[in-house]
Amino acid sequence: MDEKKIKDLAVSAMQNAYVPYSKFKVGAVLITEDNEVILGCNVENASYGLTNCAERTAIFKAVSEGHRRFKHLVVIGDTEGPISPCGACRQVISEFCSKEMPVTLLNLKEDRLETTVGELLPWSFSPQDLD
Ligand code: THU
Repeated sequence: MDEKKIKDLAVSAMQNAYVPYSKFKVGAVLITEDNEVILGCNVENASYGLTNCAERTAIFKAVSEGHRRFKHLVVIGDTEGPISPCGACRQVISEFCSKEMPVTLLNLKEDRLETTVGELLPWSFSPQDLD
């Protein structure tokens, strides 16, 4: 999928954000190994700590629909530079995605950071650690 189309999808995901408290909308686009597109947005709660970030919404949606293997994650927010996923999301991303999987971080301007799951969370605690 080309960069423009994927950014448009990320913006459309962002528009569904439920953010009455922070007013800060985030969108995520998760591409499964078989090229299904799963969108996610942040969903806040009056009990603030129960907020679910856009990245985790996308991953939990995908997993609950039977997907386990992913090839690309794109995240967008109205930040000064490319948006930076929180620590909780980095851990959840690392549960399901390989260290090599590309992650694209965007903002509403032209900023773009191409990184990987491993760069976002080096030395993550992983399922193998429980063996
Ligand atoms: N948020 C995300 O959804 N993803 C990120 O990468 C950063 C933060 C959300 C959580 C909360 O709804 C709002 O942004 C402000 O922290």
